[in-house]
Amino acid sequence: MIQSIRGFKDILPGETGVWQKIEKTAVSLFEDFGFCEIRLPVLEHTELFSRSIGKDTDIVEKEMYTFADRKGDFITMRPEATASIVRAYIQHRLYAVDPVQKLYTIGPMFRRERPQKGRYRQFSQINAEVLGVDSPLVDAELIFMLAELFRRLLVSDVSVHLNSLGCPKCRPGFTKALQRFLAKVTTQLCADCQKRKDKNPLRVLDCKVLACREAVADAPAMIDHLCAECEAHFATVKNSLNNLKVKFEIDRRLVRGLDYYTRTTFEIQTGSLGAQSAVAGGGRYDGLIESLGGPAQPAIGFAIGFDRLAEIVAAGNNNAAGGIDLFIAALGEKAKTAALEWSCALSIYGIKTETDYSDKGLKGLMKRADRLGAGHVLIAGDKELDEGVAILRDMSTKEQVSLKIEGIIDTLKSKLTAK
Ligand code: HAM
Repeated sequence: MIQSIRGFKDILPGETGVWQKIEKTAVSLFEDFGFCEIRLPVLEHTELFSRSIGKDTDIVEKEMYTFADRKGDFITMRPEATASIVRAYIQHRLYAVDPVQKLYTIGPMFRRERPQKGRYRQFSQINAEVLGVDSPLVDAELIFMLAELFRRLLVSDVSVHLNSLGCPKCRPGFTKALQRFLAKVTTQLCADCQKRKDKNPLRVLDCKVLACREAVADAPAMIDHLCAECEAHFATVKNSLNNLKVKFEIDRRLVRGLDYYTRTTFEIQTGSLGAQSAVAGGGRYDGLIESLGGPAQPAIGFAIGFDRLAEIVAAGNNNAAGGIDLFIAALGEKAKTAALEWSCALSIYGIKTETDYSDKGLKGLMKRADRLGAGHVLIAGDKELDEGVAILRDMSTKEQVSLKIEGIIDTLKSKLTAK
């Protein structure tokens, strides 16, 4: 039997309802905030990611699905979407229409990490990015929107972690201070961090190896080395979040795993996912557009781990297993023909209807109605049809009423949409 590839999973019919609910909620919220959808290719030139995410990051060093195509061009299955959004902004000169672009995109990403619960090699992200705005007010607006999505999805076990990573003016001073500190604890660092400490010292703060975490417990923090402009920017983000009543905690260790970040960085963490605590992450990347050949425009955005969010929402949603409004238990050939007509007519009015064209008896049909979580069952046999009636059973109260076939669509419409 051929199985799916390790780390690549199917999202089964019992799970897709939650995915659709999340997507619907996110899209309607983002559109209320003035975001437009952008759809991007899954394959990009490898260079796009090495130049944006950074050559010395885990993603670029170890996790990308990269291959030479038949002509020998290096191609990568995107590990994230921000770089592609920036590429599209530059390539299609979206900035010439309006430098401010508020974009969202939803789709699969690929990273060859070690698979475990909440960590897959193909996973999906919901991204929202604001390009062309420097104001810290937009940072607060974006984080508010993200927190609002969690609120709408009734996800409460989450906390907002916030940090600032400074800018090209203040970062070098901090990097030096960090390198001086790391030189003192070199022997305690893992082999990867021994290399990172010279090439990309910030990454050491991000290392998941316990010994490294302990070694850097007292390392200097960027937040203590911010220049006056970054300090003021960060202060406005924090004040605005307080005014918007978004709870957050300052996380001095939060550096994120990608190199393009500047200033505000944040993560939404949860206690409900075991080791994979980050359900969303993002921040400013004020230098990225220019470094990829575009205009000097600032930007900020986030990505939600769709698979992780779906797991949290599903866990809190045990009883909401889909469900339908009406199941038509049609007994006999005439009844089945009528059931087809009725279920098509009711679907037009948004009433979720299911029928069964097999030759099951009433007991079997009622079992199926139960399994589908039907709110009501319409029982119609050829005999009842001849008498011009059908029976409507409310599955929660078990009450039954007799309905006239004449005008039955209108009767059902008013009964089933009244609640
Ligand atoms: P990231 O932190 O690498 O950021 O990923 C964002 C989210 O994607 C994570 O918080 C996590 O929920 C989910 N995720 C990452 N890797 C996996 C995986 N292997 N399996 C399942 N879920 C995963 C970015 O990708 C940035 N592009 C975010 C951003 C947008 N920054 C600015 N704009």
